[in-house]
Amino acid sequence: MLLSYLRKRRILSLLRHSGPLAVRLTGTKYGCGGGGCGACTVMLSRYEPVSKKILHCSANACLIPICSLHCTAVTTVEGIGSTKTRVHPVQERLAKCHGSQCGFCTPGMVMSIYALLRNHPEPTLEQITEALAGNLCRFTGYRPIIDGCKTFCKEPFCCQNKEIGNCCLEQEEKLLLFSNQEEKVSLFVFMRTKLFSAEEFQPLDPTQELIFPPELLVSRDAVDINLILLRVSVHLGELTPWLGSNTLNPEEILVSVHIPHSRKGEFVSAFRQAQRRENALPIVNAGMRVFFEEGDVIKEFSIFYGGVGCTTVSAKQTCQALLGRHWDEGMLDEACRLVLKEISLPGSAPGGKVEYRRTLIVSFLFKFYLEVLQSLKTMYPSRYPDIPEKYESALKNFRIGIPQSVQMYQDVDAGQFPQDPVGRPIMHQSGINHATGEAVYCDDIRAVDEELSLAVVTSSRPHARIVSIDASEALKVPGVVDVISAPNVPAANEFYYFEDPEFVFARDKVICVGQVVCAVVADSDVHAKQAAAKVKIEYEPLEPLILTIEEAIRHNSFFEPQRKLEQGNVDEAFEIVDQILEGEIHIGGQEHFYMETQSVLVVPKGEDKEMDVYVSTQHPAFIQEMVASCLGVPFSRIMCHVKRIGGAFGGKLMKASLLSCIAAVAANKTGHAVRFILDRGNDMLITGGRHPTIGKYKVGFMNDGRILAVDVSYYFNGGCTPEDSILVWIFCVCKTNLPSNTAFRGFGFPQAGLVTESWIMGVAAKSGLSPQKIREINMYKEISQTHYKQELDPENLVRCWNECLEKSGYHSRRKAAEEFNKQSYWKKKGIAIIPMKFPFGFGKRSLSQAAALVHIYTDGSVLLTHGGIEMGQGIHTKMIQVASRELKIPMSNVYFCETSTTTIPNSCASVGSGGTDVNGMAVKDACQTLLKRLQPIISENPNGTWNEWVKEAFEQSINLSSTGYFRGYDGYMDWEKGEGRPFDYFLYGAACSEVEIDCLTGDHKNIRTDIVMDIGCSINPAVDIGQIEGAFVQGIGLYTMEELKYSPQGALYTRGPDQYKIPVVCDIPEQMSISLLSSSQNPVAIYSSKGLGESGLFLGCSVFFALWDAVAAVRQERGQVGSFVLNSPLSPEQIRMACADRFTEMIPKDGPGPVTSWAISI
Ligand code: FES
Repeated sequence: MLLSYLRKRRILSLLRHSGPLAVRLTGTKYGCGGGGCGACTVMLSRYEPVSKKILHCSANACLIPICSLHCTAVTTVEGIGSTKTRVHPVQERLAKCHGSQCGFCTPGMVMSIYALLRNHPEPTLEQITEALAGNLCRFTGYRPIIDGCKTFCKEPFCCQNKEIGNCCLEQEEKLLLFSNQEEKVSLFVFMRTKLFSAEEFQPLDPTQELIFPPELLVSRDAVDINLILLRVSVHLGELTPWLGSNTLNPEEILVSVHIPHSRKGEFVSAFRQAQRRENALPIVNAGMRVFFEEGDVIKEFSIFYGGVGCTTVSAKQTCQALLGRHWDEGMLDEACRLVLKEISLPGSAPGGKVEYRRTLIVSFLFKFYLEVLQSLKTMYPSRYPDIPEKYESALKNFRIGIPQSVQMYQDVDAGQFPQDPVGRPIMHQSGINHATGEAVYCDDIRAVDEELSLAVVTSSRPHARIVSIDASEALKVPGVVDVISAPNVPAANEFYYFEDPEFVFARDKVICVGQVVCAVVADSDVHAKQAAAKVKIEYEPLEPLILTIEEAIRHNSFFEPQRKLEQGNVDEAFEIVDQILEGEIHIGGQEHFYMETQSVLVVPKGEDKEMDVYVSTQHPAFIQEMVASCLGVPFSRIMCHVKRIGGAFGGKLMKASLLSCIAAVAANKTGHAVRFILDRGNDMLITGGRHPTIGKYKVGFMNDGRILAVDVSYYFNGGCTPEDSILVWIFCVCKTNLPSNTAFRGFGFPQAGLVTESWIMGVAAKSGLSPQKIREINMYKEISQTHYKQELDPENLVRCWNECLEKSGYHSRRKAAEEFNKQSYWKKKGIAIIPMKFPFGFGKRSLSQAAALVHIYTDGSVLLTHGGIEMGQGIHTKMIQVASRELKIPMSNVYFCETSTTTIPNSCASVGSGGTDVNGMAVKDACQTLLKRLQPIISENPNGTWNEWVKEAFEQSINLSSTGYFRGYDGYMDWEKGEGRPFDYFLYGAACSEVEIDCLTGDHKNIRTDIVMDIGCSINPAVDIGQIEGAFVQGIGLYTMEELKYSPQGALYTRGPDQYKIPVVCDIPEQMSISLLSSSQNPVAIYSSKGLGESGLFLGCSVFFALWDAVAAVRQERGQVGSFVLNSPLSPEQIRMACADRFTEMIPKDGPGPVTSWAISI
């Protein structure tokens, strides 16, 4: 494939033969290998001899066979611009509009936009969203990417009021901060919306683009003649039975499809419902055609469904039986009955969602019925009755508009020194390098002499004894060097951080599907993978097999410790309340889906067992510790390096360490450098994600909405080993035979918060008050204590809530939604506003200590390093801002190279939104030390320059290097007493979201979201707003879209972007506004900021509850009274099945016999 050709490294065998084969264009990234993420997007250009035009299109390099590229020019991100030549306007604008965070998706985004601009230099907004539909970004939330693209549009993308100084992109609000009437003093703060300056962008000049290579013009003609000779046509008549019967035979090629014009009296329509609107295979799709003889007598009828069998299925008998019938309700009922009989989907059907798919079969039929009826009515107005107006809503498809957004933040103080970058929207330090493809990630590091590749062999059984491992066939594969397993580990193969161990290799038994049993090292990754597939492992099943939370509860299978918190006397409180609500909610897990898969390169240095480990991790010190322990060498022999990583979200802690150990053992045994890059499928299989959760609750409340008693049990599915589960969730973690689940952005809060907000919905339904009212009644109002007796001042929470209510126009829009719902039967709107109190803290001082090292060189340049990892959150950019402020020098003087255990020992993990807080303090400390040393020189020569002072300091033998240190926050928790101060502060926020659902398909559209967040004083509003938006969109994924599917034997089905859907550009709300709360101070953190990387994710649940609200409106209209519960993710399937109607009632239920579902709910 083209991708491997582009990224090819010099490897052992190539070194001996042909060096030039190593193209090494690493700007094109590997994201999934299946064309599902767009990270490897390139532009293909071909000369079309008929039109005599050059055609450009974007394409996924991982899907393009080299042989298909004859006479095709391929342009990669390196080809359009670089920092060494000229940065292309697309690259520049994406970076300067803050469209890159971790940067791993950025080259692909750049190439999709570039290809669009080659065809349409002034694209429309629709063309932009279409062009980006196949590119996934897990970090930005897409808004800044769209902002960058919009700058190329001819049509206005803002309000066009710039001339009168009132442009939506450059709004300023003056807010009164303080006023003293007597002394006539008023203090104001200014809120701004401008995050970038379009004025500084280079213009796009289409005449300056790369030309099509002339030598390809000639030979293309010859090839096309051959193609034309091959071209044959398939007409619809021939195609229909062929589609109905089977797919293509191996020797057949589908060359063209002829679609005839429809005749008078003929109606054709198509329907589809997928897990995601764009770039997703349908769950069920349908094509329907009817031809009437006279008026509405059916003469021909065809119905085809996809997604209900292994190929396209024709409802032939149904159609046959309906010939001669009139197009009326009676025919519809009969058609539904017949089609459900003819197209039977067994309860165990692959793909699952059986009841939903059965429902879609008839829902689509109903939509077709209405569509045709409407057309007949238009053609023969007097012959047909009107379709009731509120039924017409079934016919309208959602149109996704172009996202519009406003971001508002507090401007810096008027008196702030202009060179001081703190508080300003500064571009990501690596933004331009991300966009040009020059940013180096682990797998972009050039090959080391005689480097080997590694592939792992994983368990196919969830719980079994390993009887034997036979690697004889694997060892015969050309290029294979060795097979490594547990006996080859020199020291520790098991690590005990809690009572249960973590394993490098499985030794005697396996405890989940996907556990690493052994590894193959070979001269290339292709050979390593080929050989890994030939390793034979014999197993003997073990009992019990525990996969789900319910099974774990049944078997009393939990990790220790289990904890609980009690406050007050809950039993007494239940005695006095008016009503009690009991229920439970299930929240599915979530895959991190960082764009850069787990990657490590281990290089033995050949002396004293030293090793360099280049790894994609959030915790280099932990990798150092585990690799050293695994090899039995002192920590000082292992040097761990991280330049940047392409996303992590909590998924690159323990697992990255275990995978590094595997590579290190292989490097130790072979003496060669070993590169180990997990492919997407194995990454998803081996590594766990967010914990699936069950929350069981009993809530006591008064009729006026006051909640007086709550008893909640949370159960997290931890998987087979403790990993970080005990840290993520301190209460009750189930031990099961699934891959180990681990930390994930939000650290348990997104699940716990959803459980809480769900029972609030229940209380609202039972008390007859609105959920918003219940939230207000029970919200903190004054200085209070949490249930673990930590004091908090909720003033900013209340401010966020009130501002969000006001900015979103919640009350008027709620009324409007209710009005809409009265008029619309098949589409309903919902709106919800959710508050948030998100805790920040590590619970213990040692977990938040940090160090920094700052060198000043004699040319005045500054090299800065600290213990934090750049994974997209812009930590290095912020640290450079801190150094710039403290040393009073421009940011351009300060450079960050890498995070390494050689410069910063024993660093803590970059987790829990704390990177900037703790490392910022350390950087500040180091810089202040240096400035203190320079101060006498500065005082002596106050008009000197920075460079002069530095040179003089050197002359005076003043140390120009300093470390800085932060001891950490002093959190604690006394579990005996059930009280403490585990958190250092709280972030507050509120989000209001509005949605519209299609009751017939379960599809939905995100109409609008307004977020107000208290993040203290932002160090970099562009980065911080990007973090909020990105986290929010990840939250939308968690709560409404992302579904992990496991087989009844514990094997993960969803192993790539084809099966596992994360939000794409069209899934973000059409209107989105983010406001950072003004005048918020946080005295405990650097420059009064707050660590915010995780918190915005929970606000994604405002979409979940808006959907819940819409479903509630449906159920109320249809007389289904009483409270109900919706589980997460609230997928199209759940929404549809919760909107019960005459079609869901028709669905045949499975017989009394046992049905083994295709997938289990874990
Ligand atoms: S910036 Fe898009 S995935 Fe990292």
